Amino acid sequence: MRTLLFIVIAVMALAGCSQGAETARTDSGSGMGMGMGMSSGMMERHHTKVPAPYSEMNNSVLPENISLERGGVLYTTHCASCHGDGGMGDGPASTGLDPAPSPIAHTSQMMSDDYLFWRLSEGGVTFNSAMPAWKEILDETSRWDLVNYMRALGSGDVKPRQGIGGSSYDPGVVEAQQTEMLKTAIEQGIISDTEAEIFQVVHTILDNFLATNPDLSVSSMPERQVAALAELVKTGKITQQQANEFQSIHDRLTESGLMQ
Ligand code: HEC
Repeated sequence: MRTLLFIVIAVMALAGCSQGAETARTDSGSGMGMGMGMSSGMMERHHTKVPAPYSEMNNSVLPENISLERGGVLYTTHCASCHGDGGMGDGPASTGLDPAPSPIAHTSQMMSDDYLFWRLSEGGVTFNSAMPAWKEILDETSRWDLVNYMRALGSGDVKPRQGIGGSSYDPGVVEAQQTEMLKTAIEQGIISDTEAEIFQVVHTILDNFLATNPDLSVSSMPERQVAALAELVKTGKITQQQANEFQSIHDRLTESGLMQ
């Protein structure tokens, strides 16, 4: 897949499509062997200079499992109707829309953070499209969670949720990665067996909590985690000791580079 994209990008560059610094990364090459039409003006949108204050913005939320979980819930609720569960622009509400919803699983692999964040914040007003603006509805963290989720959907790091409503989502891939990561951490003596168990239990509770409370009123990821843990202690879902232990394990895993 990567190789194909590079070839497509190279062909686009040769065709004189690339506009250097004026472009928000390079175009996906829609219509060039990707099975999608070029009539919707997607290439033109991709070549629009990202306006302030969005230009040069970088994703402030790491694409960790916890962010992908939240992004998945938001995506299913707000985006899948048009963009489709798999992000290929084929949701049930996409019929008849002109321009058609973009295959964002695909274009998100190519487009920059600032472009994606801008487009999903401000919507399609300037392009006369049905793409809604989300900046008043979703806080910054939620919008970055969506950027992370769109990318993970396209790269295959998460599986599409089946059906709008998303209850049958199978986070198997993400879970297996975590189990593998914890195993390595035990082998390297970074955490103990017991700590791996504590981590897994608290992590699941935390994930569920954050997924159902996407608008916790703090924006940065570490702050969200601290706030969520405090809330879980307050409501008796976990003990203060579990929260402390989780935080300490989390810090060691991050410092060791095993977890991002
Ligand atoms: C009512 C249908 C509709 C809904 C709901 C919707 N979109 Fe869109 N979206 C569109 C259409 C149509 C386009 C293509 C036209 C455009 O770029 O403005 C688009 C374009 C985009 C783009 C630009 C992609 C590119 O390659 O240029 C992004 C990013 C995006 N949508 C993300 C989202 C996210 C995330 C959500 C949910 C929070 C969402 N959309 C909800 C209709 C929708």
